[in-house]
Amino acid sequence: MAKKLYIKTYGCQMNVYDSARMADVLAPLGYAPAAAAAEADMVILNTCHIREKAAEKVFSELGRLRPLKAQKSAAGERLILAVAGCVAQAEGAEILARAPFVDIVLGPQTYHRLGEMVAQVARAGGQVLDTEFPPEDKFDFLPEAAAPRGVSAFLSVQEGCDKFCTFCVVPYTRGAELSRPAAAILAEARRLAAQGTREITLLGQNVNAYRGDTPDGGWGLARLIGALAEIDGLRRIRYTTSHPLDVDDALVAAHRDVPQLMPFLHLPVQSGADRVLAAMNRRHTADDYRRIVERLRRARPDIAFSSDFIVGFPGESDRDFAQTLALVRETGFAQAFSFNYSARPGTPAALLPDQVPDAVKNERLAELQALIAEQQRAFNAAAIGRTLDVLFEKRGRHAGQLVGRSPYLQAVHAPAPERLIGALAPVRLTAALANSLAGELAAAETLA
Ligand code: SAH
Ligand code: SF4
Ligand code: F3S
Repeated sequence: MAKKLYIKTYGCQMNVYDSARMADVLAPLGYAPAAAAAEADMVILNTCHIREKAAEKVFSELGRLRPLKAQKSAAGERLILAVAGCVAQAEGAEILARAPFVDIVLGPQTYHRLGEMVAQVARAGGQVLDTEFPPEDKFDFLPEAAAPRGVSAFLSVQEGCDKFCTFCVVPYTRGAELSRPAAAILAEARRLAAQGTREITLLGQNVNAYRGDTPDGGWGLARLIGALAEIDGLRRIRYTTSHPLDVDDALVAAHRDVPQLMPFLHLPVQSGADRVLAAMNRRHTADDYRRIVERLRRARPDIAFSSDFIVGFPGESDRDFAQTLALVRETGFAQAFSFNYSARPGTPAALLPDQVPDAVKNERLAELQALIAEQQRAFNAAAIGRTLDVLFEKRGRHAGQLVGRSPYLQAVHAPAPERLIGALAPVRLTAALANSLAGELAAAETLA
C-alpha cells in the first residue's frame, strides 16, 4: 500500500536539496509526497541550528506533531517521526530524550541510510540515532531523482566548512569541507537538464572553495561552471554561498566569459568593521571585500550583489556598526539578509565578554534593515522600463499569468501562455510591487 511522506524544511538551500534527496531515498520504499503532516505516515523535520530561534522552532513543531502521532496510534495507525539536519547533528540523543515520541534522529551525512532506519523502526520499534560522519560518501549511495526537480533546481557540489568563523555552528554540524567529484556533478546536471531543468544553483556551505578532483587534476568552481555551461538545455547557472576569501581570478573571469552565469552574487561580508571581522575570524577586511566587489564589477558591469550581516557581535561598538552602514551605502546591494548575533553553544564567540544587549542589537538591526530595504526598493525601481530575460517557472496567481525570475532573482509576473513555462523570454518591466515585479512580454516569440 502506498505510504505518504511529509518533509518540513528549515534553514538554507542545502537543506532544501537534502530534503529532495531524502524523498528520493524513501520513494523505492513506497513513500509518495503528502501535502500536509496530517495526511502522512512519516514526517521528517529537516532542521537548522544556525540561530537560537531556528533551533527552537523544531521543538515547538515537535510539540504540535505529538498529538497527531497519538491520534494515529489510537486509530491503530502509525506515524514515523524523524528529525534530520543540523539540530539533529548538534543535539542528537538529547532530542530523543526531550521528545521520546521521536523515532529517528539522523544527521546531514547519514541520510543515504534512511531506508534502513525506517525498516528498523517499522520492524522492531524503538529509537534510532545516526549522526555519524561516515567514511563513505553518501552521494555514492543516493538513488537518482525520483521525480523531475522543476525549471530551477539546486545541486549540492560541496559540503561542510573549514573556515570556523567564531559565531558559526556549520563546521560542527556539517563537518569538514568536502567536494563532490566533477564527473558526478556533471552527470547529475545532465539528468536534470534532460528532465526539463533550465537553471541550476550550485550549492555549498562554501561553494567557491569547491575542489573536485578528477584524474586530470583539480577542478575549481570556475572550471565546473565552464563545463556546466556546455550542457544542452541548461540556460542559467548560479552558485551560493560564497566566501570572499575564495573568490579567485578564475571565478571573476567566469563572470566575464560565461553568459549562462547570472550577474547576481550572494557574497556575505557580515560586518564593515575590521576589528569585528577579525574577532569573527573572517580572515578578510572590509577593504578586501570592497576590492572583490570592484573586480567583479569590472568583469561584469551589470552584476548585482546580495550579502549577509550580523549585528551585535560581541564587542561591536557604535563606531563599528557605523562602518557596517558605511560599507552598505558604498557598495549598494540589490538585497541582503541581516540578523542579530545569536550566541551558539560550542562556538568560540559565545564565550566572549562584551556580549551586546538585545535592545542595542534590535536598534542596530532596525537601522541596517531600513537601509537595505531602501537599496532593494531603489534596485527594483531601477528595473522599471527595462527589458530583462525572465525564466518562467510556473503559473501565477491570476489566470493567464506566469511567474519567473529575472537574472537578479527578482520574482517577475507577466501575462504569458503556459507553453512558456521553462522558457527564457524578454519581459519589459512595468511596475515594482512589494515582493515582485510586474511586466509584459517584450516580443511575441521567446528566445528559447
Ligand atoms: N556559509 C555561508 C553561510 C552560513 S549561514 C557563509 O559563510 O556566509 C548564513 C548566515 O547566517 C551567515 O552568513 C551569517 O550571517 C548568519 N549567521 C551564522 N551564524 C550566526 C549566529 N550565530 N548569529 C547570527 N547570525 C548568524
Ligand atoms: Fe559559517 Fe563562516 Fe563557514 Fe560560512 S564560512 S559556514 S559563516 S564558518
Ligand atoms: Fe542551518 Fe545547517 Fe544550513 S545550520 S543554515 S541548515 S547548514
